[in-house]
Amino acid sequence: MEKIVLLGYMGSGKSVIGKLLSRKVNLDLLDLDQVIEKRAGMSVNKIFQEKGEIYFRKLESTIFKELMWSEAKFILSVGGGTPCYSNNYELLQQQNVFSVYLKASVEELYNRLTLDKENRPIIASKEADELKEFIAKHLFDRGYYYNQAKHKILVDGKSCDKIVAEIVMILA
Ligand code: S3P
Repeated sequence: MEKIVLLGYMGSGKSVIGKLLSRKVNLDLLDLDQVIEKRAGMSVNKIFQEKGEIYFRKLESTIFKELMWSEAKFILSVGGGTPCYSNNYELLQQQNVFSVYLKASVEELYNRLTLDKENRPIIASKEADELKEFIAKHLFDRGYYYNQAKHKILVDGKSCDKIVAEIVMILA
């Protein structure tokens, strides 16, 4: 397989699973947010604040498409919104692509994100009591796009090693 794409909502574990999987299958890992930050010369947070979300989405889509149309082999962990804009989800279906949706429940995402929302511009300003409802609605809206991935792994209550083992098994 030439390209492995990990997708899912913020907090679903894309980055950490990407790192472990990269070691396991000996394939380079790219983190789309980091590639965007390098290209823009500023953090994702700063892009949102200074240039706005539309600017971010355009850059995100341009870089995502460049990578997906390239000849390179890699594991790519994308942002929570990447599949949901500019028809990016269509590229998850490419023949040389192994796309995996790391699916977590609202409860699990809420528990994880409530502890770590400051650096995430989409939810940073949400009050604790509105965060769960926000995640539930947002995940419902985004589910259509996430479900375009070729494979889906439920992550609730599973260790990272177990999730990586499941991905490796589907890959084999
Ligand atoms: C976003 C998720 C973030 C980042 C940006 C927007 C989203 O990535 O791309 O803040 O719209 O869900 P992570 O899912 O890696 O946190």
